[in-house]
Formats: sequence, C-alpha cells, structure tokens
Amino acid sequence: MAMKSLQEFAGYVRQCKKELESRARRVLVCAGTGCLANGSEQVLNEFHRLSVDAVAVTKSGCHGFCEAGPLVKIEPDSILYVGVTAADVAEIVKTTLRDGKTVERLLYHHPVTGQMYRGEKDIPFYSSQSRVTLANCGAIDPDDIREYVARDGYMAMARAVADLSPDEIIEEMLASGLRGRGGGGFPTGRKWFFARNAQASQKYVVCNGDEGDPGAFMDRSVMEGDPHRVIEGLAIAGRAIGASVGYIYVRAEYPLAVARLRRALKQARNVGLLGDGLFGTDFSFDVIIKEGAGAFVCGEETALLASIEGRRGMPRPRPPFPANEGLWGKPTTINNVETLATVPAIMLRGAEWFQSIGREGNPGTKTFAITGQVANTGLIEVPMGKTLREVVFDIGGGLRCDKQFKAAQIGGPSGGCLSAEQLDIALDYDSLSKVGAMVGSGGLVVMDEGTCMVEVARFFMHFAQSESCGKCVPCREGTRRMLEILEKIVGGRASMDDLAMLEELAWVVKESSLCGLGKTAPNPVLTTLRYFRDEYLAHIVEHRCPAGVCTAFKSYKIDPALCRGCTKCRKTCPVGAISGDVKSPHVIDQSVCAKCGACKAACPFGAISLS
Ligand SMILES: Cc1cc2nc3c(=O)[nH]c(=O)nc-3n(C[C@H](O)[C@H](O)[C@H](O)COP(=O)(O)O)c2cc1C
Ligand code: SF4
Ligand code: SF4
Ligand code: SF4
Ligand code: FES
Repeated sequence: MAMKSLQEFAGYVRQCKKELESRARRVLVCAGTGCLANGSEQVLNEFHRLSVDAVAVTKSGCHGFCEAGPLVKIEPDSILYVGVTAADVAEIVKTTLRDGKTVERLLYHHPVTGQMYRGEKDIPFYSSQSRVTLANCGAIDPDDIREYVARDGYMAMARAVADLSPDEIIEEMLASGLRGRGGGGFPTGRKWFFARNAQASQKYVVCNGDEGDPGAFMDRSVMEGDPHRVIEGLAIAGRAIGASVGYIYVRAEYPLAVARLRRALKQARNVGLLGDGLFGTDFSFDVIIKEGAGAFVCGEETALLASIEGRRGMPRPRPPFPANEGLWGKPTTINNVETLATVPAIMLRGAEWFQSIGREGNPGTKTFAITGQVANTGLIEVPMGKTLREVVFDIGGGLRCDKQFKAAQIGGPSGGCLSAEQLDIALDYDSLSKVGAMVGSGGLVVMDEGTCMVEVARFFMHFAQSESCGKCVPCREGTRRMLEILEKIVGGRASMDDLAMLEELAWVVKESSLCGLGKTAPNPVLTTLRYFRDEYLAHIVEHRCPAGVCTAFKSYKIDPALCRGCTKCRKTCPVGAISGDVKSPHVIDQSVCAKCGACKAACPFGAISLS
C-alpha cells in the first residue's frame, strides 16, 4: 500500500526515529566488500556473541578507508578501530564498551609519521573531506530502511512528489548546476528537461551502475552502503521526466550491491515508498534491477540500453538520443549512481547550497578512488576544484616509503596522466579537460619515481583494446596497432617512425571512433607523450628505461664472487644461455638470454641479480 500523504510519511519518520533511539550508543562494523574480504563478518558475529546491554551492534557500508579495514566505529564516542580481528573483540568490549577507555593499539597510526589518531574527526584522511553523497556510507546499516529515513531519507522524494511539479524539480536541478558524475559531466537538469519534453505514454529512467573502470569502486560503495539514496534519486528523476519505471543496471560482479539494492527495494515497497499513487498523487513508481555481464563498453549508454533489452551490449550512433528514443524506443534518461545519489541532497537543501560548494561551473563534491603509491588509499569525497596536491598529500598522506611523486593517472582508461608540474591543478571537469585528462568516473592512481610511464600507457591501451566491442574500424584496428607499437617500445624494438605512427594513430582513433571508448582510449598515450615524452625517447633512442621497470633493458648477471658453480642455473635455463664448469663461476650469454628470470629463482646462493 503506497504512502497516502505527506502527513502519513511524517508519522513514519517519527516512528523510525523513535525505534532507533535505543541505538544512541552503538558499534558499527564495516560490512563493505573490502572489509568483508578481510574478515569483518567474524568480527560482527563476535560482537553479537559478546553483546553488552544498551550497546547496539550493527553493520555498515564502506567507510572508504578499506585499506585499514576491517573497521569498527563506536558512537557516540567517535572512536575508530582499524585492522580489527575477531580476536580483538573481547578487549574492545571490556576496555571501551564497559570501562570507557580506548584500545590504543587498534587506533589508526599514520604509516609515515607514526602519529596516533582517535577517530574520523582527527584522521587527516577523513578530516579534509566533505561528505555529501557518501554521508551515510559507513554511518548507517544499509539493510535497515528506518536508519535511512531517520536521517531525512525519502524526505526529498516525498516533497518532490507531493509538493513540487515536474517543471519545478527540473528548475531546481538546472539551478543547482549538477553535472553527471559518470564521466562526461553533462548537466543533469538539461538531460531531464529533454526527456520531460519528449512526448510518449511510457518513459524510463535508468541508473548506470556498471562501473567498468579498473580500480574504481565509488558507485559500488554507494549502492552497497546507502542503496536507498540511489533509489530515492531515481524516483525523483522518474517524477521529473514522467517515468513510472526505473531500471538499475548493476554488473553481476557486484553481488553485494545487487543483494542490498534488492533488499532496499523490498523494504521501500513494504512501507509504501514505491508503488502506485505515491503520497496520494497520480505518480506511480517502481524499480527493476538488471544485472549486466561485466563488459566495460556496457557502461556506454546506448550499449547499456541494448543490454537491458536483452541484446548484445554494443553502442549505436546518436542521434537519436536516448532522451527521445531510448529503452524499447521510448524516451529514457540515464544517470550515473553518484549523480542520482546527489539528487536527494540538492532537493532537500536547495540549489543555492549546492552551488556554494565547489567552483563556478563545477559545483558540488566528487568522489575519487585513490590508489597506488600513497600512504592512505581508499574512497574519498571532496569539493570540486580541490587540487591534486591537496588530495595526494593532505588526504592521501603523501607517498609511501619516502619516494617522490611522479605522476597521477586520473579518470581511468578514458583519462590521462598528469606530472608533478600539474600538482596544483584543480580537480574539476573544465581544468582537467584543458590538460588532456578527465574526471572520468574518479579513479586516481598515484605513481612514484619507480613507475615507467610508457608501461602505464601500454597497460591502459591493453585494457581499451581488449574491451573494444569491435563494431567500428578505428577503435578495433587502431587500438590494436597502438598496443603493438607500445609493446615494441617497452620491448626495446621501436624506431622513431613507430613513435610518429603511434601519435598519428592516437588522433585518428580519438577523432573517428563511434563511441566514447574509442574516443577516449588514446588519452593515456597522448598525455604521457605530452608530459613524459623524454621517457619514450629514452626507450627508443637510448635503449634504456629511466624508471628501471622494463625488463627488455635489463640483464641477468652472475656475480663470480658468489657463484659456487653448483650448475643449478645452467640446468634451469630454457634457452641454454648459461655456461660454466662444476665448482667454477658460471656466465650468462646476453645475446641468448630470454630474460625469463628462472636462473635467478633457482640460484640457492643469491649469485644472480637483475640490473
Ligand atoms: C565505454 C564507456 C563506459 C562507460 N561506463 C560508465 C559506467 O560504468 N558508469 C556510468 O555511470 N557511466 C559510464 N559511461 C558514461 C555513460 O555512457 C553515460 O554518459 C552516463 O551514465 C550518464 O550519466 P551522468 O550524466 O549521470 O554522468 C561510460 C561511457 C563509455 C563511453
Ligand atoms: S569505439 Fe570501440 S567500443 Fe565504441 S563502438 Fe567503436 S569499436 Fe565499439
Ligand atoms: S634469465 Fe632465463 S633465459 Fe636468461 S639466463 Fe636466466 S634462465 Fe636463462
Ligand atoms: S645457480 Fe647460482 S651458484 Fe649455482 S652455478 Fe648458477 S649462479 Fe652459480
Ligand atoms: S569496505 Fe570497509 S572501509 Fe571500505
């Protein structure tokens, strides 16, 4: 039975708040994918087993600090314990829950400075962030709709349905300036406006939860940690454009996200927040989950629609745009998970509030998955326009092991590599596109001096080439040729003509491919050529890898002082490159050696090294 009015909803909110009052003091055990993989379920079970009166124990979604997990948060004491195992639980129960003291060894210690921090308010990883979309991730139990409702959840949808007209919703979205967080940065209000104006008896809204970028996990965390927020955003989009059905497209590799979304949908239907005639209006809305097969190209909107329709996920030319001819030929709006999860906050707090965060033309916050050689890796949310330096050094805690910053790869396979000279660049759509990179979905890989930039370009080209759907020639053939040339360069077999061909191909693929995959696949190559050209030249002209990474430029050598002539390496070498008599130092013929490394692994005396 649908909720009949705003008054009825207000009563439900009061009931949720009351029911949860008893949870004022509680233990939250992270049950995001990362912490679960590290044993947080056992930690949760142990807390339940040793439960203390008046202390509630619940699970939560990802807190973003997965590297330090499993995490346990104690409220309202504002304590965060990291790396907790089931064996630590008894001590936490006794020392913290019973005696009110902290277990210092379980607090977060900065890996570089060694400083100890008590909770999220102090830990630099958290204190420099602004959490809007991720506000509930790690703070509520995603499987309990009452927790979401008690924190103003579904309030924005209730108002959007009962108090506002679709045009008013779209006006608010236009005024907010929200730009799609799925990569392109297209204004969400304009997208909704086009679909609203399309004439049809049936329309659809689709949430893109495909998230195929390697290393990205922000959409997954939102779906797992705060599924109702995504559903609420989708329902508001449905109300705005006049759609009664929404789809959430999630890759099948995200089983936890699928399970939490399914449970959330069931709960929303049960309490009357989805269904027919919501809040006594003529607006009906429900959501269907579609599991995708996990191809990167299925995130492209026209391919995604084909996939929902049961066809092979291949892009098609636009126009017609989905706003006019989308799912089953009907007007359809497709938005990213993070975009939709931002909508309830905008509708509740207003466009002006949203515009006050971030920068002109790039309002609001953005999540990033920060990985690589930084001290603190994880999922973060910052105002648009924070600089790369602030993100890497203030939140990421700087580089590990006293190494120097060399580059940041931002935006996944569609993005680009920035050098130390760009550390003060603002992380927003416009600033990044000016330097050839992209916000993309928000993947941010930090690299130190020990990284070969040509190898990085080769890695991303390999990804793009293997994910190309093959429909159009520039992408299918061009990415293959580009990969071959990059392999030649890192293999020490390339000429300057190859380099010229690589650059020319990059522009051809970029300009003539059918969909965004091909159009952006050359970005990592183009940006490394722009900012790290000397590394390409060192490989080609000087036959040297400045970072000392590419094996083609390395050689295995036997130290005669350490070699005891045991013959193990000679017997192991698959190409007969090693010679020497028993009990005499052996030697490697470099012209024959295939650089497989088997001899080094076989030598019991550490006489073989790679240099
Ligand atoms: C190859 C390719 C993969 C994409 N993958 C995703 C994805 O995983 N998630 C996503 O939201 N958008 C992805 N996009 C962008 C979508 O096509 C689309 O622009 C986006 O979902 C629109 O939502 P937004 O306006 O809220 O950003 C991809 C685009 C391309 C070309
Ligand atoms: S650009 Fe690549 S992925 Fe896109 S349609 Fe062409 S072949 Fe397929
Ligand atoms: S690296 Fe491999 S090929 Fe070269 S000498 Fe050692 S075992 Fe032989
Ligand atoms: S395995 Fe090591 S010690 Fe034995 S012959 Fe080879 S290099 Fe010398
Ligand atoms: S999964 Fe626990 S912090 Fe991310």
